[in-house]
Amino acid sequence: MQVLIRANYDEMSKEAAGYVSSEMRKKVKFVLGLATGSTPLGLYKELIRMHKEEGLDFSNVTTFNLDEYYGLSPTHEQSYSYFMWENLFKHVNIKKENVHIPDGLAKDVDKFCEEYEHMIEEAGGIDLQVLGIGSDGHIAFNEPISSLGSRTRLKTLTEETIKDNARFFKDESEVPRYAITMGVGTVFEARKTVLLASGAKKAEVVAKAIEGSVTASITASALQLHRDTIVVLDEEAAGKLKRKEYYKYVDKMVKEFNK
Ligand code: PGA
Repeated sequence: MQVLIRANYDEMSKEAAGYVSSEMRKKVKFVLGLATGSTPLGLYKELIRMHKEEGLDFSNVTTFNLDEYYGLSPTHEQSYSYFMWENLFKHVNIKKENVHIPDGLAKDVDKFCEEYEHMIEEAGGIDLQVLGIGSDGHIAFNEPISSLGSRTRLKTLTEETIKDNARFFKDESEVPRYAITMGVGTVFEARKTVLLASGAKKAEVVAKAIEGSVTASITASALQLHRDTIVVLDEEAAGKLKRKEYYKYVDKMVKEFNK
C-alpha cells in the first residue's frame, strides 16, 4: 500500500486523476470501477477536463459502479445512476452499453447480483477500482462485519450511513435502507485499487483502516491485504496517521527512484 498525502481536496483529486488517466492510457480496453459520494467529484471533474482538453478517451472504457440504493430508479435524482451520468458519463465519450451500475429496481435481487458478478468477469475483471470510505469504515456499502470474502448482494445500511447520506435527501426518512453493493471480495479482485478520502471527519477512520488491524468491522482495512492499493488523502484526512511523515518520505523516495 502506498499512501499519498496532498495539501487539499483539489490536489488530492488531481493526483487521483493523474493516476486513473495514466492507467487508462496503458490498455486499449480498460475496465474501470467507479464510486459515488462527495469524495470522487473532484476526480471526475478533472477526468472530464482531461477528456475535453487532452483527448482522454473513454470509447474503449467499460465501467462498473460499486453500488446503488435499492428501491431507486435510475432517473431518481439521488440514485447513483443519475449521479454518474450527471457528474461523469454525459460529459465524456463513453458508450452507454459499456456502463454498468447495479439495478436498484431489480425484482430478483439474488439473480441480479449473480449476473453483475458475471458481467465483471466477462469484461475481464476490473483493472482499477476507485473507492471512497464511509465514516463507519465501509468500502462500497460493505457495512461493519460484512464478510471480507463477500460478493455483490443486498445490504442493510447502518444508521451512521443513513445519517451521513441524509444531506442529499429532503429528509432522513427518504434515505433508502438497503443497497445493492459489490462485496469486499469483489472489490478485492480488482487488479488495482485507489482509495480517496478528504476532510478531518474521515481522519479517524482512515487511520484505523490503514494502520489498525484488518477487521470486518472496518471493511476498508481489507485493502491492507490487497496487492496494489494506493490511498490518496488530503492533509486533513491524514491528520490521525501515526506514520504520516514516513508516508511522505516514501512518496518522495519513489519519485526520486523513478526520475
Ligand atoms: P463520501 O462517501 O464520499 O460522500 O464521504 C464515502 C462513502 O460512503 O463511501
